[in-house]
Amino acid sequence: MQDKESKVKIAVIGCGHWGPNHIRTFNFLPDSYVSVVVDSDIEKANSIKRLYPHVAVDSDYRNLLKDKSIDAAVVATPTSTHYRIVRDLLESGKHVLCEKPLCTELAEAEELGRIAGEKGLILAVGYVFLFNNGISKLKELIESGALGALHYISISRTNLGPIRTDVNVVYDLMTHDLSILHHITGKSPLRVTGVGGSYLKKGIEDVAFVTLEYGDGLIVSIRASWLDPHKVRQITVVGNKKMALWDDLDQTGAITIYDKGVMQQPSYTDFAEFIRLRDGDITIPKIPFAEPLKNQDQYFISMVRQKKSPVNNAAFECNVLRVIQAVNESIKTGRSVSIG
Ligand SMILES: NC(=O)c1ccc[n+]([C@@H]2O[C@H](COP(=O)([O-])OP(=O)(O)OC[C@H]3O[C@@H](n4cnc5c(N)ncnc54)[C@H](O)[C@@H]3O)[C@@H](O)[C@H]2O)c1
Repeated sequence: MQDKESKVKIAVIGCGHWGPNHIRTFNFLPDSYVSVVVDSDIEKANSIKRLYPHVAVDSDYRNLLKDKSIDAAVVATPTSTHYRIVRDLLESGKHVLCEKPLCTELAEAEELGRIAGEKGLILAVGYVFLFNNGISKLKELIESGALGALHYISISRTNLGPIRTDVNVVYDLMTHDLSILHHITGKSPLRVTGVGGSYLKKGIEDVAFVTLEYGDGLIVSIRASWLDPHKVRQITVVGNKKMALWDDLDQTGAITIYDKGVMQQPSYTDFAEFIRLRDGDITIPKIPFAEPLKNQDQYFISMVRQKKSPVNNAAFECNVLRVIQAVNESIKTGRSVSIG
């Protein structure tokens, strides 16, 4: 355990549903501690102080900007507020871990990345599934070629809530899946087609169904909804050798590998002989559990310490935002949208 002075001192802005998880995590990590918490609703900040009496509280993040004792800030406020807050923090010389998505416009993400680069600051985006051990295993299966060439990927992310009023389900939920896709495949789609439905607030989609085409045969389908009776977090990857399922909620194991497929015979007299189903073993690899948020926050601290740009940096976010913007354009216009 390090002494208090040598730890990275963190401010957490936003003490609603998610911010307190960062407060717990950064206080728990051996290399950091939370010195200030901010919420425009001071009662929420005060409720944190009741749990962690050592923290200072504030209702206005701008009071932190001149405080040289704070090394880094976590932004866990609603998405529509991120750009302004992150820009002010970077301008004042603080490293930033901002919750997903970093902002709503590609140009804003580019600008924030440029400011961080010019000032030599770490800017990371809270794409927590990049630090999920099940997703790391799925990435390993794809990269090692264990699944073979990828045919298609099917993704579901549903639940009843949390319902947002400032951004739609594409910015709020599907952004996780787009970050995972970029992370595990290492590539970006060339064309997207989406439809969405707004039932609770006009103009804010609660549900979206999206298809991504990669131009090399890979097709991805994503269903995201905060208006659904079931909580589902699943990704099915179908390759030409094997198939895999990631199910974040499966207690027996997050990854199941199916040695299933179809064999095409080189010579045949009828179609039944040409196509043979292969139905082999189903395996559930042992994946050590570690809290993804703890992994992510520890990684952020190590990047700050080493002054190294994180994988979840602004350039990564630009890849995600390019797809989000195309999906939203497709939902709005009813047409497929190419990504340049
Ligand atoms: N990575 C994940 O799995 C995950 C999960 C949930 C939320 N999030 C992200 O975290 C962020 C916050 O989500 P939430 O569910 O906690 O929202 P929330 O509405 O529960 O909390 C947001 C808090 O920010 C405060 N706030 C608003 N504007 C502020 C400002 N200008 N200055 C200071 N405080 C301000 C509000 O009073 C509120 O307490 C969002 O970007 C969301 O996408 C990420």
